[in-house]
Amino acid sequence: MVQIAPSLLSADFSNLSADIEKVTRGGAHALHVDVMDGHFVPNITIGPVVVQSVKNATQLPLDVHLMIENADRFIPQFIRAGADWITVHAENCNHLHRTITMIKTAGVKAGVALNPATPVGQISEILHKIDLVLIMSVNPGFGGQDFIPESLDKIRRISNVIRSRGLKVLVSVDGGVTLENTPQLVRAGARILIAGSSVFGRANPEKAVRNLIEAAKPTHVINKKK
Ligand code: DX5
Ligand code: ZN
Repeated sequence: MVQIAPSLLSADFSNLSADIEKVTRGGAHALHVDVMDGHFVPNITIGPVVVQSVKNATQLPLDVHLMIENADRFIPQFIRAGADWITVHAENCNHLHRTITMIKTAGVKAGVALNPATPVGQISEILHKIDLVLIMSVNPGFGGQDFIPESLDKIRRISNVIRSRGLKVLVSVDGGVTLENTPQLVRAGARILIAGSSVFGRANPEKAVRNLIEAAKPTHVINKKK
């Protein structure tokens, strides 16, 4: 089954609980929370305090995407705030194995994100240790950017590696996910679709989630192939 994780980055920050309720009614499987520090990426968003408030407002798992320098220092705070998944970037963790171990030891699922220019081979030695690979299909920092077409093949390649090694790692895609490219992404192997502007940028976020779930269904994916 493909999971839809709306990204709160495009939600109304003055009324997050209302937006959370809408996507929950639409059947969202998780909430994606983008944490940016103005150093690793050219934007600043939220920290553990808001993650904690979001946690209190939902039963859905929180998928916390850390786009920050010195992730190791802040991971314990995000775990205490209620993160169910923590995804760190391969590009800025000097000791990725240690970081992943820290996350897993706390009983939290660990993900590793790869920027568009980062090769999939960079995580081959730790692939069996993680729960999720997040393929960035835009350069991280902002919502509403266009999907980078080369990402499709990258999803395909990492999915093949995971399958050939008999691993259960989920492939997630973040950036420029739309109703139109959903069938292709699923066909390429994506199992978690993170969508910000194509959910909260729509007049009806509830319906937008429902439509994405429908577009990700195997029947739809196969029909679209023709
Ligand atoms: C970008 C973030 C994404 C962002 C996606 O750096 O990691 O999660 O919210 O937004 P859309 O879906 O609008 O591309
Ligand atoms: Zn993200």
